Amino acid sequence: MLVTHSKTPSGVMILAAGLGKRMRSELPKVLHEIGGEPLIFHVLSGVLESAPTAPVCIVVGHGREQVESRVLADPRFAKADLTFVHQPEQKGTGHAARCAMDSQWGSRMTRTQSTVLVLPGDLPLIPASLVQQMFAPLARNEAVRLLTCELTDPTGYGRIVRRGKQGSVLRIVEEKDASAREKLIREVGASIYSFKAAFLKAGLQRLSNKNAQGEYYLTDLIAQAARSGKKTDVLRWSHEEDLRGVNDPWELAQAGRILNQRCVRASALRGVRFIDPSTTWVDLTVEFDEGVVVHPGAILSGSTKIGRGAVIGPRVVLEDVEVGAGANVKAGTIAQSSRIGDGAQVGPYAHLRPESVVGEKAKIGNFVELKKSVIGDRTSVAHLSYLGDATVGKDVNIGCGFVTCNFDGRVIDGQRKHRTVIGDNVFLGSDCQTIAPVRIGDGAYVASGSTITEDVEPEALAIARSRQVNKPGYARKLKGKS
Ligand code: UD1
Ligand code: MG
Repeated sequence: MLVTHSKTPSGVMILAAGLGKRMRSELPKVLHEIGGEPLIFHVLSGVLESAPTAPVCIVVGHGREQVESRVLADPRFAKADLTFVHQPEQKGTGHAARCAMDSQWGSRMTRTQSTVLVLPGDLPLIPASLVQQMFAPLARNEAVRLLTCELTDPTGYGRIVRRGKQGSVLRIVEEKDASAREKLIREVGASIYSFKAAFLKAGLQRLSNKNAQGEYYLTDLIAQAARSGKKTDVLRWSHEEDLRGVNDPWELAQAGRILNQRCVRASALRGVRFIDPSTTWVDLTVEFDEGVVVHPGAILSGSTKIGRGAVIGPRVVLEDVEVGAGANVKAGTIAQSSRIGDGAQVGPYAHLRPESVVGEKAKIGNFVELKKSVIGDRTSVAHLSYLGDATVGKDVNIGCGFVTCNFDGRVIDGQRKHRTVIGDNVFLGSDCQTIAPVRIGDGAYVASGSTITEDVEPEALAIARSRQVNKPGYARKLKGKS
Protein backbone atom coordinates (compact mmCIF):
# COMPACT_ATOMS: atom_id res chain seq x y z
CA MET A 1 0.00 0.00 0.00
CA LEU A 2 0.96 3.61 -0.49
CA VAL A 3 3.12 4.86 2.33
CA THR A 4 2.15 8.50 2.63
CA HIS A 5 1.25 11.01 5.23
CA SER A 6 -2.46 11.62 5.30
CA LYS A 7 -1.85 15.39 5.03
CA THR A 8 0.51 15.17 2.07
CA PRO A 9 -1.24 13.83 -0.98
CA SER A 10 1.11 12.67 -3.69
CA GLY A 11 1.05 12.97 -7.45
CA VAL A 12 3.31 11.26 -9.94
CA MET A 13 4.95 12.79 -13.01
CA ILE A 14 6.46 10.53 -15.67
CA LEU A 15 8.71 12.18 -18.26
CA ALA A 16 8.20 10.49 -21.59
CA ALA A 17 8.43 13.20 -24.23
CA GLY A 18 12.10 12.90 -25.18
CA LEU A 19 13.29 12.35 -28.73
CA GLY A 20 15.26 9.28 -27.74
CA LYS A 21 17.83 10.22 -30.38
CA ARG A 22 20.30 7.61 -29.21
CA MET A 23 17.79 4.81 -29.95
CA ARG A 24 18.07 5.70 -33.68
CA SER A 25 14.53 4.49 -34.20
CA GLU A 26 11.19 5.89 -35.40
CA LEU A 27 9.42 4.33 -32.42
CA PRO A 28 9.23 6.60 -29.36
CA LYS A 29 11.81 5.40 -26.84
CA VAL A 30 9.32 4.63 -24.08
CA LEU A 31 7.43 2.25 -26.43
CA HIS A 32 10.42 0.00 -27.01
CA GLU A 33 9.73 -3.28 -25.27
CA ILE A 34 11.43 -5.53 -22.77
CA GLY A 35 9.78 -8.58 -21.25
CA GLY A 36 6.96 -8.16 -23.79
CA GLU A 37 5.91 -4.70 -22.60
CA PRO A 38 6.85 -1.09 -23.45
CA LEU A 39 9.33 0.61 -21.12
CA ILE A 40 6.70 3.06 -19.91
CA PHE A 41 4.38 0.21 -18.83
CA HIS A 42 7.05 -1.05 -16.46
CA VAL A 43 7.38 2.38 -14.86
CA LEU A 44 3.63 2.92 -14.72
CA SER A 45 2.90 -0.53 -13.25
CA GLY A 46 5.59 0.01 -10.60
CA VAL A 47 3.98 3.32 -9.63
CA LEU A 48 0.39 2.05 -9.62
CA GLU A 49 1.33 -1.00 -7.55
CA SER A 50 2.39 1.38 -4.76
CA ALA A 51 -0.14 4.14 -5.39
CA PRO A 52 -3.16 2.94 -7.35
CA THR A 53 -5.15 6.14 -6.81
CA ALA A 54 -2.41 8.76 -7.23
CA PRO A 55 -3.01 11.37 -9.95
CA VAL A 56 -0.42 10.49 -12.61
CA CYS A 57 0.72 12.92 -15.27
CA ILE A 58 2.60 11.57 -18.29
CA VAL A 59 4.51 14.22 -20.24
CA VAL A 60 4.43 13.27 -23.92
CA GLY A 61 5.90 14.90 -27.00
CA HIS A 62 7.79 12.89 -29.58
CA GLY A 63 5.29 10.28 -30.92
CA ARG A 64 2.71 11.40 -28.37
CA GLU A 65 -0.32 9.91 -30.15
CA GLN A 66 1.37 6.52 -30.20
CA VAL A 67 2.34 6.70 -26.53
CA GLU A 68 -1.11 7.89 -25.44
CA SER A 69 -3.05 5.34 -27.43
CA ARG A 70 -0.83 2.47 -26.31
CA VAL A 71 -1.26 3.38 -22.63
CA LEU A 72 -5.00 4.04 -22.93
CA ALA A 73 -5.58 0.74 -24.75
CA ASP A 74 -4.28 -1.32 -21.86
CA PRO A 75 -7.06 -2.40 -19.48
CA ARG A 76 -4.68 -2.48 -16.51
CA PHE A 77 -4.45 1.30 -16.61
CA ALA A 78 -8.16 1.90 -17.19
CA LYS A 79 -8.88 2.74 -13.56
CA ALA A 80 -5.79 4.90 -13.02
CA ASP A 81 -6.12 8.68 -12.65
CA LEU A 82 -4.08 9.50 -15.78
CA THR A 83 -3.47 12.86 -17.45
CA PHE A 84 -1.33 13.42 -20.54
CA VAL A 85 0.44 16.76 -20.88
CA HIS A 86 2.01 17.83 -24.14
CA GLN A 87 5.59 19.10 -24.30
CA PRO A 88 5.54 20.62 -27.80
CA GLU A 89 9.31 20.99 -28.13
CA GLN A 90 11.86 18.82 -26.39
CA LYS A 91 13.92 21.38 -24.51
CA GLY A 92 15.08 19.13 -21.68
CA THR A 93 13.83 17.35 -18.56
CA GLY A 94 13.32 20.66 -16.70
CA HIS A 95 11.19 22.01 -19.53
CA ALA A 96 9.16 18.77 -19.60
CA ALA A 97 8.47 19.06 -15.88
CA ARG A 98 7.53 22.71 -16.36
CA CYS A 99 4.94 21.79 -18.98
CA ALA A 100 3.38 19.46 -16.41
CA MET A 101 3.46 22.00 -13.56
CA ASP A 102 2.00 24.74 -15.81
CA SER A 103 -0.93 22.46 -16.74
CA GLN A 104 -4.20 22.00 -14.83
CA TRP A 105 -2.70 18.87 -13.32
CA GLY A 106 0.21 21.00 -12.00
CA SER A 107 -2.19 23.58 -10.52
CA ARG A 108 -3.96 20.75 -8.75
CA MET A 109 -0.62 19.66 -7.27
CA THR A 110 0.26 23.14 -5.99
CA ARG A 111 -3.27 23.87 -4.76
CA THR A 112 -3.36 20.65 -2.74
CA GLN A 113 0.24 21.15 -1.52
CA SER A 114 1.09 17.75 -2.85
CA THR A 115 4.39 15.99 -3.07
CA VAL A 116 5.27 15.22 -6.69
CA LEU A 117 7.18 12.06 -7.44
CA VAL A 118 9.07 12.53 -10.71
CA LEU A 119 10.28 9.53 -12.69
CA PRO A 120 11.73 9.21 -16.18
CA GLY A 121 9.91 6.86 -18.54
CA ASP A 122 13.14 5.08 -19.43
CA LEU A 123 13.93 3.33 -16.12
CA PRO A 124 12.02 0.07 -16.51
CA LEU A 125 13.66 -1.92 -13.71
CA ILE A 126 12.70 0.15 -10.67
CA PRO A 127 11.04 -1.98 -7.99
CA ALA A 128 7.79 -0.99 -6.27
CA SER A 129 9.66 -0.85 -2.93
CA LEU A 130 11.77 2.03 -4.27
CA VAL A 131 8.65 3.93 -5.31
CA GLN A 132 7.19 3.40 -1.84
CA GLN A 133 10.28 4.76 -0.11
CA MET A 134 10.26 7.82 -2.37
CA PHE A 135 6.64 8.46 -1.33
CA ALA A 136 7.54 8.80 2.38
CA PRO A 137 6.62 12.34 3.49
CA LEU A 138 9.27 15.07 3.32
CA ALA A 139 10.23 16.89 6.52
CA ARG A 140 9.26 20.57 7.00
CA ASN A 141 12.69 21.92 5.94
CA GLU A 142 13.13 19.52 3.02
CA ALA A 143 12.23 20.71 -0.47
CA VAL A 144 13.11 17.53 -2.31
CA ARG A 145 14.19 13.93 -1.92
CA LEU A 146 16.74 12.71 -4.44
CA LEU A 147 17.52 9.13 -5.32
CA THR A 148 21.19 8.40 -5.85
CA CYS A 149 23.28 5.33 -6.48
CA GLU A 150 26.95 4.44 -6.60
CA LEU A 151 27.67 2.97 -10.04
CA THR A 152 30.64 0.89 -11.13
CA ASP A 153 30.54 2.78 -14.44
CA PRO A 154 28.81 6.16 -14.05
CA THR A 155 29.35 7.22 -17.69
CA GLY A 156 26.38 9.16 -19.06
CA TYR A 157 24.69 9.85 -15.72
CA GLY A 158 24.45 13.11 -13.76
CA ARG A 159 27.10 13.14 -10.98
CA ILE A 160 26.23 14.12 -7.40
CA VAL A 161 28.52 16.92 -6.17
CA ARG A 162 28.66 17.03 -2.37
CA ARG A 163 30.16 19.42 0.16
CA GLY A 164 33.31 17.43 0.99
CA LYS A 165 33.22 13.70 0.37
CA GLN A 166 30.12 12.69 2.34
CA GLY A 167 28.62 16.14 3.05
CA SER A 168 25.29 17.53 1.90
CA VAL A 169 24.42 17.58 -1.80
CA LEU A 170 25.35 20.82 -3.58
CA ARG A 171 24.32 20.12 -7.16
CA ILE A 172 24.13 17.56 -9.95
CA VAL A 173 26.42 17.94 -12.91
CA GLU A 174 25.58 16.28 -16.21
CA GLU A 175 28.22 14.17 -17.95
CA LYS A 176 28.54 16.66 -20.81
CA ASP A 177 29.09 19.58 -18.42
CA ALA A 178 31.34 17.77 -15.93
CA SER A 179 35.02 18.49 -15.43
CA ALA A 180 37.49 15.61 -15.60
CA ARG A 181 37.52 15.60 -11.80
CA GLU A 182 33.73 15.54 -11.52
CA LYS A 183 33.59 12.65 -13.98
CA LEU A 184 35.44 10.55 -11.42
CA ILE A 185 32.44 10.80 -9.05
CA ARG A 186 30.61 7.48 -9.01
CA GLU A 187 27.51 8.59 -7.10
CA VAL A 188 24.87 9.50 -9.70
CA GLY A 189 21.32 10.83 -9.79
CA ALA A 190 18.76 8.43 -11.20
CA SER A 191 16.36 11.17 -12.27
CA ILE A 192 13.90 10.10 -9.59
CA TYR A 193 12.78 12.82 -7.17
CA SER A 194 10.05 13.73 -4.70
CA PHE A 195 9.41 17.46 -4.80
CA LYS A 196 7.21 19.70 -2.75
CA ALA A 197 4.90 21.05 -5.45
CA ALA A 198 5.41 24.75 -4.61
CA PHE A 199 9.22 24.42 -4.69
CA LEU A 200 9.06 22.51 -7.97
CA LYS A 201 6.76 25.02 -9.63
CA ALA A 202 8.83 28.05 -8.58
CA GLY A 203 12.18 26.38 -9.26
CA LEU A 204 11.29 25.34 -12.81
CA GLN A 205 10.53 28.96 -13.71
CA ARG A 206 14.06 29.96 -12.73
CA LEU A 207 15.93 27.33 -14.81
CA SER A 208 18.38 28.44 -17.45
CA ASN A 209 19.61 26.51 -20.48
CA LYS A 210 23.18 27.80 -20.41
CA ASN A 211 24.86 24.42 -20.47
CA ALA A 212 26.58 22.06 -22.88
CA GLN A 213 23.31 20.72 -24.31
CA GLY A 214 21.39 24.03 -24.35
CA GLU A 215 18.62 22.30 -22.38
CA TYR A 216 16.62 23.08 -19.25
CA TYR A 217 17.84 20.49 -16.75
CA LEU A 218 15.58 19.25 -13.99
CA THR A 219 18.76 18.30 -12.15
CA ASP A 220 19.51 22.02 -11.61
CA LEU A 221 16.74 22.19 -9.01
CA ILE A 222 19.06 20.46 -6.57
CA ALA A 223 21.53 23.40 -6.73
CA GLN A 224 18.59 25.78 -6.28
CA ALA A 225 17.53 23.96 -3.11
CA ALA A 226 21.10 24.11 -1.75
CA ARG A 227 21.43 27.85 -2.55
CA SER A 228 18.15 28.73 -0.88
CA GLY A 229 19.13 26.86 2.29
CA LYS A 230 16.51 24.13 1.82
CA LYS A 231 17.47 20.56 2.58
CA THR A 232 17.71 17.80 0.00
CA ASP A 233 16.94 14.44 1.51
CA VAL A 234 18.91 11.68 -0.20
CA LEU A 235 17.77 8.11 -0.64
CA ARG A 236 20.85 6.09 -1.53
CA TRP A 237 19.92 2.97 -3.43
CA SER A 238 22.39 0.12 -3.29
CA HIS A 239 21.14 -2.08 -6.17
CA GLU A 240 22.51 -0.41 -9.27
CA GLU A 241 20.78 -2.92 -11.51
CA ASP A 242 17.39 -1.43 -10.53
CA LEU A 243 18.39 1.94 -11.98
CA ARG A 244 19.61 0.92 -15.42
CA GLY A 245 18.41 3.62 -17.81
CA VAL A 246 17.57 2.83 -21.42
CA ASN A 247 19.02 5.39 -23.81
CA ASP A 248 20.27 3.27 -26.72
CA PRO A 249 19.64 -0.21 -28.17
CA TRP A 250 22.53 -1.70 -26.22
CA GLU A 251 21.10 -0.50 -22.91
CA LEU A 252 17.69 -1.78 -24.02
CA ALA A 253 19.21 -5.23 -24.52
CA GLN A 254 20.94 -5.11 -21.12
CA ALA A 255 17.73 -4.08 -19.34
CA GLY A 256 15.86 -6.83 -21.22
CA ARG A 257 18.35 -9.43 -20.07
CA ILE A 258 18.12 -8.32 -16.43
CA LEU A 259 14.33 -8.34 -16.50
CA ASN A 260 14.35 -11.77 -18.13
CA GLN A 261 16.58 -13.19 -15.44
CA ARG A 262 14.20 -11.75 -12.82
CA CYS A 263 11.21 -13.45 -14.50
CA VAL A 264 13.03 -16.77 -14.86
CA ARG A 265 14.21 -16.64 -11.25
CA ALA A 266 10.74 -15.81 -9.92
CA SER A 267 9.24 -18.75 -11.85
CA ALA A 268 12.06 -21.06 -10.73
CA LEU A 269 11.31 -20.21 -7.10
CA ARG A 270 7.68 -21.15 -7.77
CA GLY A 271 8.69 -24.64 -8.89
CA VAL A 272 9.71 -24.41 -12.55
CA ARG A 273 12.93 -26.18 -13.53
CA PHE A 274 14.95 -24.23 -16.08
CA ILE A 275 17.83 -26.36 -17.36
CA ASP A 276 19.71 -23.25 -18.52
CA PRO A 277 18.27 -19.94 -17.24
CA SER A 278 20.79 -17.91 -19.23
CA THR A 279 19.41 -19.00 -22.62
CA THR A 280 15.72 -19.12 -21.72
CA TRP A 281 13.46 -16.13 -22.42
CA VAL A 282 10.25 -15.67 -20.49
CA ASP A 283 7.96 -12.63 -20.69
CA LEU A 284 6.54 -11.15 -17.49
CA THR A 285 3.09 -12.22 -18.65
CA VAL A 286 3.85 -15.96 -18.94
CA GLU A 287 2.33 -18.24 -16.27
CA PHE A 288 3.52 -21.65 -15.09
CA ASP A 289 2.05 -24.37 -12.91
CA GLU A 290 4.38 -26.37 -10.71
CA GLY A 291 6.68 -29.10 -11.96
CA VAL A 292 7.26 -27.70 -15.44
CA VAL A 293 10.65 -28.35 -17.07
CA VAL A 294 11.97 -25.83 -19.58
CA HIS A 295 14.96 -26.78 -21.75
CA PRO A 296 17.68 -24.43 -23.06
CA GLY A 297 16.85 -21.88 -25.71
CA ALA A 298 13.07 -21.83 -25.17
CA ILE A 299 11.34 -18.48 -25.82
CA LEU A 300 7.96 -18.09 -24.10
CA SER A 301 5.99 -14.92 -24.60
CA GLY A 302 2.64 -13.13 -24.38
CA SER A 303 -0.23 -14.83 -22.61
CA THR A 304 1.44 -18.26 -22.69
CA LYS A 305 0.39 -20.59 -19.84
CA ILE A 306 2.15 -23.86 -19.12
CA GLY A 307 0.26 -26.57 -17.22
CA ARG A 308 1.50 -28.74 -14.38
CA GLY A 309 4.37 -31.08 -15.21
CA ALA A 310 4.58 -30.11 -18.89
CA VAL A 311 7.95 -30.31 -20.63
CA ILE A 312 9.07 -27.54 -22.97
CA GLY A 313 11.89 -28.79 -25.16
CA PRO A 314 15.03 -27.07 -26.45
CA ARG A 315 14.52 -24.00 -28.68
CA VAL A 316 10.73 -24.17 -28.48
CA VAL A 317 9.05 -20.84 -29.28
CA LEU A 318 5.58 -20.27 -27.82
CA GLU A 319 3.60 -17.04 -28.22
CA ASP A 320 0.16 -16.82 -26.56
CA VAL A 321 -0.05 -20.59 -26.26
CA GLU A 322 -1.80 -22.64 -23.59
CA VAL A 323 -0.03 -25.92 -22.87
CA GLY A 324 -1.97 -28.56 -20.89
CA ALA A 325 -0.75 -30.54 -17.89
CA GLY A 326 1.79 -33.22 -18.71
CA ALA A 327 2.09 -32.20 -22.35
CA ASN A 328 5.45 -32.58 -24.08
CA VAL A 329 6.39 -29.88 -26.56
CA LYS A 330 9.53 -31.17 -28.23
CA ALA A 331 12.60 -29.46 -29.67
CA GLY A 332 12.28 -26.71 -32.24
CA THR A 333 8.49 -26.49 -32.16
CA ILE A 334 6.97 -23.08 -32.90
CA ALA A 335 3.40 -22.21 -31.89
CA GLN A 336 1.30 -19.05 -31.87
CA SER A 337 -2.15 -18.35 -30.37
CA SER A 338 -2.95 -22.04 -30.00
CA ARG A 339 -3.89 -24.60 -27.35
CA ILE A 340 -2.18 -27.89 -26.64
CA GLY A 341 -4.24 -30.37 -24.59
CA ASP A 342 -3.25 -32.29 -21.46
CA GLY A 343 -0.78 -35.08 -22.14
CA ALA A 344 -0.40 -34.19 -25.83
CA GLN A 345 2.91 -34.56 -27.66
CA VAL A 346 3.92 -31.96 -30.19
CA GLY A 347 7.09 -31.90 -32.29
CA PRO A 348 9.99 -32.05 -32.70
CA TYR A 349 9.84 -29.27 -35.31
CA ALA A 350 6.07 -28.85 -35.47
CA HIS A 351 4.49 -25.51 -36.43
CA LEU A 352 1.17 -24.55 -34.85
CA ARG A 353 -0.10 -21.41 -36.54
CA PRO A 354 -2.85 -19.30 -34.90
CA GLU A 355 -6.17 -20.83 -33.81
CA SER A 356 -4.97 -24.40 -33.66
CA VAL A 357 -6.20 -26.73 -30.94
CA VAL A 358 -4.52 -30.03 -30.18
CA GLY A 359 -6.68 -32.43 -28.15
CA GLU A 360 -5.76 -34.35 -25.02
CA LYS A 361 -3.12 -37.04 -25.54
CA ALA A 362 -3.03 -36.21 -29.25
CA LYS A 363 0.22 -36.54 -31.16
CA ILE A 364 1.53 -33.98 -33.63
CA GLY A 365 4.83 -35.20 -34.98
CA ASN A 366 7.81 -33.80 -36.84
CA PHE A 367 7.35 -31.37 -39.72
CA VAL A 368 3.60 -31.08 -39.22
CA GLU A 369 2.01 -27.67 -39.77
CA LEU A 370 -1.44 -26.81 -38.38
CA LYS A 371 -3.39 -23.65 -39.15
CA LYS A 372 -6.90 -22.87 -37.79
CA SER A 373 -7.32 -26.59 -37.17
CA VAL A 374 -8.82 -28.59 -34.35
CA ILE A 375 -7.30 -32.00 -33.69
CA GLY A 376 -9.39 -34.34 -31.50
CA ASP A 377 -8.31 -36.22 -28.40
CA ARG A 378 -5.88 -39.13 -28.95
CA THR A 379 -5.61 -38.36 -32.66
CA SER A 380 -2.23 -38.83 -34.29
CA VAL A 381 -0.74 -36.73 -37.08
CA ALA A 382 2.75 -38.06 -36.71
CA HIS A 383 4.74 -37.03 -39.77
CA LEU A 384 5.16 -34.44 -42.53
CA SER A 385 1.63 -33.07 -42.94
CA TYR A 386 -0.26 -29.80 -43.47
CA LEU A 387 -3.70 -29.30 -41.95
CA GLY A 388 -5.31 -25.91 -42.60
CA ASP A 389 -8.93 -25.03 -41.76
CA ALA A 390 -9.59 -28.62 -40.67
CA THR A 391 -11.63 -30.20 -37.91
CA VAL A 392 -10.42 -33.68 -37.07
CA GLY A 393 -12.30 -35.93 -34.63
CA LYS A 394 -11.10 -38.22 -31.85
CA ASP A 395 -8.94 -41.34 -32.21
CA VAL A 396 -8.07 -40.58 -35.80
CA ASN A 397 -4.88 -41.83 -37.44
CA ILE A 398 -3.46 -39.65 -40.15
CA GLY A 399 -0.61 -41.24 -42.04
CA CYS A 400 2.55 -39.58 -43.27
CA GLY A 401 2.37 -36.78 -45.82
CA PHE A 402 -1.30 -35.73 -45.56
CA VAL A 403 -2.30 -32.38 -47.07
CA THR A 404 -5.58 -30.49 -46.76
CA CYS A 405 -5.89 -28.58 -50.04
CA ASN A 406 -7.87 -25.70 -48.58
CA PHE A 407 -7.38 -22.96 -51.18
CA ASP A 408 -8.63 -23.08 -54.74
CA GLY A 409 -7.27 -19.68 -55.71
CA ARG A 410 -10.62 -17.89 -55.48
CA VAL A 411 -12.07 -15.57 -52.84
CA ILE A 412 -15.84 -15.99 -52.40
CA ASP A 413 -17.78 -13.79 -49.92
CA GLY A 414 -14.48 -12.77 -48.33
CA GLN A 415 -13.71 -16.46 -47.67
CA ARG A 416 -10.55 -17.71 -49.26
CA LYS A 417 -10.22 -21.06 -47.56
CA HIS A 418 -12.44 -24.15 -47.43
CA ARG A 419 -12.87 -26.54 -44.51
CA THR A 420 -12.03 -30.19 -44.23
CA VAL A 421 -14.04 -32.14 -41.66
CA ILE A 422 -12.84 -35.56 -40.57
CA GLY A 423 -15.00 -37.58 -38.13
CA ASP A 424 -14.01 -39.77 -35.17
CA ASN A 425 -12.09 -43.06 -35.57
CA VAL A 426 -11.11 -42.34 -39.18
CA PHE A 427 -8.01 -44.00 -40.63
CA LEU A 428 -6.17 -42.14 -43.37
CA GLY A 429 -3.34 -43.97 -45.09
CA SER A 430 -0.13 -42.20 -45.99
CA ASP A 431 0.19 -39.64 -48.76
CA CYS A 432 -3.46 -38.56 -48.98
CA GLN A 433 -4.91 -35.17 -49.89
CA THR A 434 -8.38 -33.78 -49.31
CA ILE A 435 -9.68 -31.17 -51.75
CA ALA A 436 -11.80 -28.94 -49.51
CA PRO A 437 -14.64 -28.42 -48.85
CA VAL A 438 -15.00 -32.09 -48.03
CA ARG A 439 -16.15 -34.39 -45.18
CA ILE A 440 -15.00 -37.82 -44.17
CA GLY A 441 -17.55 -39.62 -41.96
CA ASP A 442 -16.88 -41.39 -38.63
CA GLY A 443 -15.05 -44.69 -38.85
CA ALA A 444 -14.19 -44.36 -42.56
CA TYR A 445 -10.96 -45.67 -44.12
CA VAL A 446 -9.06 -43.81 -46.79
CA ALA A 447 -6.52 -45.80 -48.77
CA SER A 448 -2.95 -44.55 -49.08
CA GLY A 449 -2.21 -42.25 -51.97
CA SER A 450 -5.84 -41.10 -52.32
CA THR A 451 -6.89 -37.65 -53.45
CA ILE A 452 -10.32 -37.19 -51.86
CA THR A 453 -12.54 -34.81 -53.81
CA GLU A 454 -15.96 -36.03 -52.64
CA ASP A 455 -17.47 -36.66 -49.20
CA VAL A 456 -16.86 -40.11 -47.74
CA GLU A 457 -19.76 -41.64 -45.79
CA PRO A 458 -19.24 -43.13 -42.31
CA GLU A 459 -17.64 -46.61 -42.18
CA ALA A 460 -16.89 -46.51 -45.95
CA LEU A 461 -13.55 -47.26 -47.60
CA ALA A 462 -12.45 -44.62 -50.07
CA ILE A 463 -9.80 -45.36 -52.68
CA ALA A 464 -9.05 -42.55 -55.06
CA ARG A 465 -6.02 -43.56 -57.07
CA SER A 466 -5.49 -45.24 -60.40
CA ARG A 467 -5.27 -49.01 -60.40
CA GLN A 468 -1.82 -50.59 -60.70
CA VAL A 469 -0.94 -52.60 -63.78
CA ASN A 470 2.03 -55.05 -63.70
CA LYS A 471 3.38 -56.10 -67.11
CA PRO A 472 5.49 -59.27 -66.72
CA GLY A 473 8.93 -59.14 -68.40
CA TYR A 474 8.38 -55.60 -69.67
CA ALA A 475 11.38 -54.23 -67.76
CA ARG A 476 13.74 -56.56 -69.60
CA LYS A 477 12.28 -55.38 -72.89
CA LEU A 478 12.89 -51.75 -71.97
CA LYS A 479 16.48 -52.45 -70.97
CA GLY A 480 17.05 -54.18 -74.30
CA LYS A 481 15.85 -51.08 -76.13
CA SER A 482 18.25 -48.76 -74.31
C1 UD1 B 1 18.78 12.09 -17.08
C2 UD1 B 1 19.34 13.09 -16.03
C3 UD1 B 1 20.63 12.51 -15.45
C4 UD1 B 1 20.36 11.15 -14.85
C5 UD1 B 1 19.73 10.20 -15.89
C6 UD1 B 1 19.28 8.91 -15.22
C7 UD1 B 1 18.74 15.38 -16.68
C8 UD1 B 1 19.20 16.63 -17.32
N1 UD1 B 1 19.61 14.36 -16.67
O1 UD1 B 1 19.71 11.98 -18.14
O2 UD1 B 1 21.13 13.39 -14.45
O3 UD1 B 1 21.58 10.59 -14.38
O4 UD1 B 1 18.55 10.83 -16.46
O5 UD1 B 1 18.70 8.02 -16.12
O6 UD1 B 1 17.64 15.33 -16.16
N2 UD1 B 1 12.42 13.89 -21.52
C9 UD1 B 1 11.31 14.64 -21.82
N3 UD1 B 1 11.47 15.83 -22.46
C10 UD1 B 1 12.68 16.32 -22.81
C11 UD1 B 1 13.82 15.55 -22.50
C12 UD1 B 1 13.66 14.34 -21.85
O7 UD1 B 1 10.18 14.24 -21.52
O8 UD1 B 1 12.74 17.43 -23.37
C13 UD1 B 1 12.23 12.57 -20.86
C14 UD1 B 1 12.74 11.43 -21.71
O9 UD1 B 1 11.68 10.91 -22.51
C15 UD1 B 1 13.21 10.43 -20.68
C16 UD1 B 1 13.55 11.27 -19.46
O10 UD1 B 1 12.97 12.55 -19.67
O11 UD1 B 1 12.21 9.50 -20.33
C17 UD1 B 1 15.05 11.42 -19.27
O12 UD1 B 1 15.62 11.99 -20.44
P1 UD1 B 1 16.98 11.45 -21.06
O13 UD1 B 1 17.26 12.22 -22.29
O14 UD1 B 1 16.95 9.99 -21.13
O15 UD1 B 1 17.98 11.93 -19.93
P2 UD1 B 1 19.36 11.26 -19.53
O16 UD1 B 1 20.40 11.69 -20.49
O17 UD1 B 1 19.18 9.81 -19.33
MG1 MG C 1 17.74 8.47 -19.85
